[in-house]
Amino acid sequence: MFAGDVGARNHWEKRMRVVAVMNYKGGVGKTTLTANLGAVAASRGLRVLLIDLDPQTNLTFSFFSIDDWHDRLKDDRTIRQWYQGEMPGRELSLADLVVTPERVNRALENPVGQLDLISSHLGLIDIDLELAALLGGTTTLDGSKRRFLDLHGCLRQALADSHFSNAYDLMLIDCAPNFGLVTKTAIVASELILVPAKADYLSTLGLDYLVGNCAGLVKEFNDYVNHKGGGGGYTPIDPSFLGVVFTMVQIYSQQVTLAQHRYIEEVRESSRVPVLKSMIRNSPKHFGNAGESGVPAMLHNTGKDEVVKEFDQLADEVLGALASSTGAHQ
Ligand SMILES: Nc1ncnc2c1ncn2[C@@H]1O[C@H](COP(=O)(O)OP(=O)(O)O)[C@@H](O)[C@H]1O
Ligand SMILES: [Mg+2]
Repeated sequence: MFAGDVGARNHWEKRMRVVAVMNYKGGVGKTTLTANLGAVAASRGLRVLLIDLDPQTNLTFSFFSIDDWHDRLKDDRTIRQWYQGEMPGRELSLADLVVTPERVNRALENPVGQLDLISSHLGLIDIDLELAALLGGTTTLDGSKRRFLDLHGCLRQALADSHFSNAYDLMLIDCAPNFGLVTKTAIVASELILVPAKADYLSTLGLDYLVGNCAGLVKEFNDYVNHKGGGGGYTPIDPSFLGVVFTMVQIYSQQVTLAQHRYIEEVRESSRVPVLKSMIRNSPKHFGNAGESGVPAMLHNTGKDEVVKEFDQLADEVLGALASSTGAHQ
């Protein structure tokens, strides 16, 4: 199988993969990875849906101008409207929020590919608190378990609609750097978790904590699902860590700097999360001004320079792993 082919659609059995991109730390390259990986996957012929779950809305602004977002999306086509209200999704269909950014789709090499987006909203930050308040709204034990499942499982339930599995091969969810309820809905909805991190102490400090929190959430959700009379309509979840992707890696004379190399090896040996072979180098020239053109750098740099080739390898590794993932519990 040659490079570039691994992510092609004919290698994917017909099942939608849902991947959460997360790290507790901001500024580690989550959004840059999500936008570029989504674009490269679409360019290889996959039908991709990106979901922006970060109130900072940077993923959305990687594809839409701020004016466009204000005029066309802000009032009634963002994920904020969906999470708002008595129970997410009861008043609004998630499918109605999907938009197709024009510039990136015009730039795709493979006409079968597609890149769609559900946009975020700065106001999503308040929704997290409102949702958390809903959790405590019932008095009976069965009622509170039911509500836990309905709230944490809302995105999972919405994505289970055949509209999504028919329309998409891959979903990438760009999570906020926290473990609030909105982020938890993404973990519950996901089959795999991808963790971008810089090769420094602060960016990887939270890795084991993140693993522990995810495991706790999975256990609580599954306990409620298995509880007699409590989990009707829900099945157990089993999201797994696809791995850490090191980003903004310092390269000098074609080599990772010694300090970062040592650091990466240390994480590889000691962390409970696997570390991917491929990484993304620090390149402000490519990744520095995300969003201005509406087309992620890895698509509009047609010259196939070193950085584009490196990213292609990362896409091979990630999409290859997704293609062979069995999704036992999905
Ligand atoms: N590989 C890279 N090389 C250089 N700059 C990068 C790289 N990846 C991301 N950046 C820049 O770093 C900043 C943070 O990246 P971003 O993807 O927004 O992080 P996060 O979503 O984790 O907060 C942005 O200004 C982005 O343009
Ligand atoms: Mg971000």
